[in-house]
Parts: sequence; C-alpha cells; structure tokens
Amino acid sequence: MEIDVVEGRIEERKDEAIVVNLFEGVKKPGGATGSVDKALGNLISETIAMGDFKGKFKEVLLLRTHKIPSPRVLVVGLGEKTTFNLDRIREVSGKAAKHLRDLGLKSFSTIIHGAGIANIPVREAAEAVVEGTLLATYRFEGYKTDKGDDEKKKLDKMTIVEYDKKKIGVIQEAVRTATIVAESTFLARDLVNKPSNDKTPEKLAKLAEKVAEDCGLSCTILSEVDMEKLGMGALLGVAKGSSSPPRLIVLEHKGEGGKPIIIVGKGITFDSGGINLKPSQGLFPLLRMKDDMGGAATVIATLQAVAKLKLRRRVIGIAPCAENMPSGEAQKPGDVVRCYSGKTVEVANTDAEGRLILADAISYATKYGPEAIIDVATLTGACVIALGRKISGLMSNDDRLAQKLEESSKVVGENIWRLPLLEEYGEQLKSDVADIKNVGSRFGGAITGAIFLKNFVGNTPWAHLDIAGTVWTDGEKDSLNKEYVPKGATGVGVRLLTHLIRNWD
Ligand code: BES
Ligand code: ZN
Ligand code: ZN
Repeated sequence: MEIDVVEGRIEERKDEAIVVNLFEGVKKPGGATGSVDKALGNLISETIAMGDFKGKFKEVLLLRTHKIPSPRVLVVGLGEKTTFNLDRIREVSGKAAKHLRDLGLKSFSTIIHGAGIANIPVREAAEAVVEGTLLATYRFEGYKTDKGDDEKKKLDKMTIVEYDKKKIGVIQEAVRTATIVAESTFLARDLVNKPSNDKTPEKLAKLAEKVAEDCGLSCTILSEVDMEKLGMGALLGVAKGSSSPPRLIVLEHKGEGGKPIIIVGKGITFDSGGINLKPSQGLFPLLRMKDDMGGAATVIATLQAVAKLKLRRRVIGIAPCAENMPSGEAQKPGDVVRCYSGKTVEVANTDAEGRLILADAISYATKYGPEAIIDVATLTGACVIALGRKISGLMSNDDRLAQKLEESSKVVGENIWRLPLLEEYGEQLKSDVADIKNVGSRFGGAITGAIFLKNFVGNTPWAHLDIAGTVWTDGEKDSLNKEYVPKGATGVGVRLLTHLIRNWD
C-alpha cells in the first residue's frame, strides 16, 4: 500500500472515504471530526444525540454524503480517554482500514488518531496509524491457484491529512519508519506461515542471504561441515534424524561498530518431537509445528528492519536451523552430545530440541564479546500454560536488560511477563552421565528451559523470550486477537526487538 502525507483539511479532501474519530461519551466533537461534523450540517453530532453512535473502542459509523467532496465518512470510536494509548491507535487504524477494504474500496484518507491528545507525540501517533493499518491488512500470499473474491480485495493507497504544516516533515519520517517495521513484520509472518517443505534449513539460509543482499547486511552461513569442525554437537544431534541438513545463519549489521547486541532465534523448521514423537492431536496439533522457527523468523526480520532503518548500533542475528525428525539415524533419548562450549548434554528427551540448538548458537554468540544476548524461541508448551497465548515469557539474568524489554513491550503493545530463574530448579537438570540433561519435570517447564540456556551465556547480560504461545493466533478470544494481527503467524518479537535496539541508549 502506498502512503502519502498531505497538508490540508480532511473535510475538503476528495477520496473514496475519509476517516475521523470520536472518544466515548463526547457529544459535540471538536478538532478534525468537529470540522467534518460542521461541514455535514451536524450529521455526526445528531447521530450521537440519537444514541446510534457512542464512540466505544473500535465502534464504527459509516455515513454517506453529498455535502463534502468525499462520498463516505467513517467515524471510528477511540473508547475512553483515560485508557487511550498507542496500541489503541494501532487497533482503531487497523479496524478502519479493514472495514473500508472489505467494502471494496481502494483508497482512503485519514487523520492521525490521537495526535496531540493524551500527551502522545505526533511522531508516535503517526507511526501507530501506519503500523496498525499495514499490519491489519496483511495477508499471506499462500499457495492457492485461485483466490476467492474476498482475498482479492486490497487497499492501494492511504493518505494522511494534516492541517498543521509544521508537522508534515515528522509525519513523513514516521511513515518511512513504520513502513519498514511493518514490512519486516510481514517478512517474519510470511516465513512462519510457509509450510515446512518450503522452508527447510537450506532454503531459509538462502532466503536470509537474499535479505542480506537486498538491505546491506553481511551474511555467513555455517554448513554441517563447518559445525562439525567447530564441535557443535548439540545442533548436529538434533538435525541427525532429518534428510534436510542444518544451517546456522549469521547476519550482521555493522552500524557504528563497538560491542554488538546479539539476537538469537530458534529455527526448528519442523518439530515432530523426534524419537519422542509428538501426538498428532493434543493441546498443540502437530501441523502447527511448522511455526517452531518463529524465533529465527524474528531474528531475520529484525535484522532487516535494523539495516533498513540504518540504526547506529552494531547488531548481529544468529539463527540455528534444523528439522527435528525421527529416523534410523535420529538421535535417541539417552544419547549424550558434546556442545560447542565443551559441555556434555544428556538428551533425555528428543522433543526438548530447541534448547539444544540454542545452546550452541548462544555459546557461538558469546565469542563476539556482546553487550547483550537476547534469544527468541518457541521453547515450551509450559510457557503457554503459564501465561496463555497473549503474553510471551521473559527470563533474564540481568534486571536492566529485562527492564528495557519491559519498557519496549509497553510501547509496541506486545505483552511480555518476567518469570523468575529460581536457582534451585536448575537441580532438575543434573544428569547421572553428563554435565547436564536437557529436561526437568513438567512443572515450571518454561523456567527450567531457560535455566538450561543460562548454562551457555557465561557472564553476558542475557534475556530469553519464550514465544511458544504468541507466535501464532487462531483469532479465538484466548489467543492474540488484535485488529492488526490477522489469523496465522503474528510476527511477534520484530517490533519489540526493533524498538529495543532503536532506543538502546
Ligand atoms: N516446540 C516445542 C514447544 C512448543 C509447544 C511450541 C507448543 C509451540 C507450541 C518444544 O520443542 C517442545 O517440544 N518442548 C517440550 C519440552 C519438554 C519435552 C521438556 C514441551 O514443551 O512439551
Ligand atoms: Zn520439541
Ligand atoms: Zn520445538
């Protein structure tokens, strides 16, 4: 979708539709909505007086008119003033855009919801309008040879109308930034939505190389042979059962140099469980396990955003990729592997594979002497039980890093919640035959998973994001059901980490 910014008054704008807004309980609208109301001969305030429109959060009112150049006016409810925030701007922008798209329109004009009110700076409000609109109207270009009529509906253009000339430059900059962030989120969603047969570790690595080339990142891919030389026994062990060989993707944004921030993402392109095979049905159906590379998708997409935004920080993205399959060559429960760090691990359960590939990738990351390591992984079902499907788990050995992530989380509207790394739980990981084993009991499984990873970070400030619950949405009430997150892959983590890196110091 093309996005334009023009100076002017929305009521004078000629487009297929214009979008304005209303806070709940307001009887006589002011600002841009007030001007439109006046131009319409009080049609909006009369509709409010009749009780037909209240301005409730995400409520929409569509008026048809001949009185102004645009034939349609969509008034979108902002809800109560006291609870208004950036995420509500994303949601109402998404709601409005989808409403107009579904009517079959191609183009509309809008004001920036919330700019100037509730102390929201215009730049942030404009970014939220653009993000909400783009993210909401995302569709996965799937594999259907014939698209249905609804799938053909697509908006081509949004125009942001602003009457204050002084704000135009800031808004244009916000459009540019938010477009990069949204398009990078699309990249993550696309990768996660793809079927496993179209994203083997080799294919993912090729794709990462292409992304790197397009946006000026440097890219190194480690093959099986490289991993053998380096002694990455944990990553190799997981890949053994599959005829698709593993890859370790390393993307680097040089920025202004210095100690890098490193993000590491779990890239299991399909998690069958291995010899500890998962059941086809159950709490999480087996066919969902294509999303087990959500962490890797977040890493590739975030590096794209960081490069396109030309951020000052040096950032490295590492994505260990493998397919976890059972076969005659697969690793077996009880096998012992030697990690890149030299530690030996007893593979007590082949389905706890994410922590194995991450162990090698995280140790590899520490060699860069990073400022911080943040890993993102669909690591445990236990995290989904603990926090549900609207909140990602956060675990960290560093309060400052955890706090930074919590702050970013509030701004971007991606919920995270910190779980404690209780030292005693680590005792569950003691093995009789190796330095450590890869599973504890089912109780507190999100935490023991994180404690396993902590064994590989050394003294580096580190945070772990468990996105098993949030990587995917089926649109149900207990999953992510925001207006700007369509069914399927959510792209969670991209906006969070991009915001974190943008605001690091
Ligand atoms: N990929 C799964 C975690 C997962 C579960 C992601 C549900 C998304 C939805 C992970 O590899 C796994 O299988 N974890 C096991 C760990 C257990 C064996 C300690 C789990 O959560 O059951
Ligand atoms: Zn697993
Ligand atoms: Zn997994």
